[in-house]
Amino acid sequence: MASFALGQRSYGEVYEQIYRQHPELRYVGFYRLFNEPAILVRDQRLVREVLVGSSFLNCADNAVNVDAQRDVLATCNPFIASGDRWRILRADLVPLFTPSRLRQTLPHVAAACQQLQEFVGRRLTGERFEAKALATRYTLQVIASAVFGLDAHCLCYDEDQEKGSQWLQRLLPLFQPSAWSLLETIALLHSSRLANILQHRWDWLCALVRARSGANNFLHWLGDKQGEQGDLAGHATTLLLEGYETSAMLLAFALYELSRNESAQRRVQTELEEVAQRHGGLLVGHAALAELRYAEAALLETLRLHPAMQALQKRCTKSFTLPPQRSDTDTAVGSHGSIQVALGTVLVLPVQAIHMDPNLYSDPLKFQPERFMDTSPMGCRFLGFGAGPRMCPGMRLGLAQTKAALVTLLRDYSFSLADQAQDPVQVSPLTFLTASKHGIWLQLQKR
Ligand code: HEM
Repeated sequence: MASFALGQRSYGEVYEQIYRQHPELRYVGFYRLFNEPAILVRDQRLVREVLVGSSFLNCADNAVNVDAQRDVLATCNPFIASGDRWRILRADLVPLFTPSRLRQTLPHVAAACQQLQEFVGRRLTGERFEAKALATRYTLQVIASAVFGLDAHCLCYDEDQEKGSQWLQRLLPLFQPSAWSLLETIALLHSSRLANILQHRWDWLCALVRARSGANNFLHWLGDKQGEQGDLAGHATTLLLEGYETSAMLLAFALYELSRNESAQRRVQTELEEVAQRHGGLLVGHAALAELRYAEAALLETLRLHPAMQALQKRCTKSFTLPPQRSDTDTAVGSHGSIQVALGTVLVLPVQAIHMDPNLYSDPLKFQPERFMDTSPMGCRFLGFGAGPRMCPGMRLGLAQTKAALVTLLRDYSFSLADQAQDPVQVSPLTFLTASKHGIWLQLQKR
């Protein structure tokens, strides 16, 4: 793990190496940074057991460090909260993601797609551009509107108007690779001491909560139920932070994969034309989005190759038993028998390693959306959104907003890599959420 702490390898790569080195074992014991004992779970049945099955209650908490005194709003995030507090916070948010709420959210997505189309038409044509920055502008525009009912001015074609956008200034750099992001990742995943020193200031966000407007948005729906300013600001922080970065990353990597896989790009374009024809030219509506099955499969395949979280990490809160490490010793309990997981041990579910396992996906490095056309992506072979009671509640919204932008862009343009040297893309070792080391540089041609 030293290579991770020194910023040489991402945590996903470190775990992938451990996973590959022990094909005969169901799980591997190792020490994380600062000598913290951990167990990396390899076996699919055990992964399911920990995330979804009877062991879930023994390790339901994510192994993350945030200081509750210094970073009050961040601790309202169910991803960070533990025990009963997690249950309460999650229960507040889940009703925002029902199919009927998703339909009510789509006008925000459609408006942002239209702005994206105008922005690209006026400001990008003919140039090479960085796809992650464009994708972040778009997802911030959606989330500002869908959560707060506000215009974030992230997709203005008038540059002067954009200069006043606090959203861009504050949030565009937040998840960029840097020495600081490495420090934050180490604090979040490995060191409560370091987490006690780092602090985020969210005064700006509290002001946004006060400035919220309109009725058809998340804060209005939450406010109906709660009315408490403190909780509302906490939920707003969660919806903002969870809502924009993961989807932006997915959109940028999807454009990257489709740029280097021309036939898949053409297939998305053929599909979107057929669907648009059936829906009077409209793509960003509930029925049309549901019919864009290949585009969705392309997004899932992108997440398989580039998962936002390269590993899920859970903490044991109640000691429990794991079966023998080797499956061939099941009956010979004794010298190689079951082990008792000690309280506090971290259990690592190595998402990236699982997604790249040739026993689970043939030709795992290949971009093949067809893998997800006829089979459900769920289960524990695919962990792009996690699994079980802690699975991402915003999955449908994340996929819908990303798919809407993808087809909006591919309807008017074809994309290609601006620079072959970035093939394959290098993953930054400095960030918690997956990011490209040098950006994703593309160019577009009008169709
Ligand atoms: C493509 C976009 C997205 C991806 C790839 C993604 C991925 C994930 C993953 C991997 C987790 C961890 C699951 C686990 O611990 O087992 C998670 C949790 C979470 N996500 Fe997402 N997410 C996306 C979009 C969203 C959106 C749009 C929202 C809300 C606006 C959201 C809200 C959350 C929340 C609140 C949690 C914490 C759940 C809990 O611990 O109970 N996500 N997401």
